[in-house]
Amino acid sequence: MVQPHNLPRHVAIIMDGNGRWAKRRGLPRIEGHRKGADSVRDVVRASRELGLKALTLYAFSSQNWDRPMEEVRSLMELLRDYVVEERAEIMDNEIRLVTIGDRSRLPEFVRDPLEELIRDSAENSQMTLCLALSYGGRESIVAAARRLAEAAVAGEIIPSDIDAQSFAQELSTRMLPELDLVIRTSGEQRISNFLLWEAAYAELYFIDTLWPDFSRTTLYQAIEAFQGRERRFGLTSEQVRLRRL
Ligand code: FPP
Repeated sequence: MVQPHNLPRHVAIIMDGNGRWAKRRGLPRIEGHRKGADSVRDVVRASRELGLKALTLYAFSSQNWDRPMEEVRSLMELLRDYVVEERAEIMDNEIRLVTIGDRSRLPEFVRDPLEELIRDSAENSQMTLCLALSYGGRESIVAAARRLAEAAVAGEIIPSDIDAQSFAQELSTRMLPELDLVIRTSGEQRISNFLLWEAAYAELYFIDTLWPDFSRTTLYQAIEAFQGRERRFGLTSEQVRLRRL
């Protein structure tokens, strides 16, 4: 059972295995993505009901642009459909939609409804749904470093002003709570350029389930596993126990 206290505030998911799910059924890859979009709907709803503060989904990486053109096009259409069809659900449930990644690369037919919903949901406060779109962790760190270098050249800061805290403030995830749990589906055990900085102290949970088969029940299992872990943040077990007293 998921304990209502000790919930992760921020969960991030690498939604992997859509292609394999389709292949096993002799279907085109896009059918896996389509079924994957249904998992997204269920998991967003369940996260909101549980009371998570933030959910980040790796929907499209910077590297995914190199996939076959038809697959990229279909993924973009699925994203557009999601934004259009889930608009009422997102607004009614007080969910704030944000994105991380290079939105300027998205085609207009995705960007327009997406940016409209980002604007309209900006004041919603029950949960933040963050879609990583055209996102790469390294790219995001490099962009932050570049901004700080520019600020230093402009004389706005000096290099010794830069520390982990000020650096994190330059990342696009600055509006999200600390990342507590990263889930990756489909049996792969890699981070794949996702939230590299943010995952520093996150718990990692790898599960064999393919993303289209992922449901709220699988999310509950992952959260239960999280709740059974001891997070030490570099301390000893004894120190952690003493701090809890
Ligand atoms: C990885 O599976 C999945 C993706 C690259 C895309 C994820 C997209 C969705 C779940 C649907 C649309 C998203 C939203 C937010 C509505 P893969 O294709 O790499 O699977 P494989 O490793 O089995 O080939």
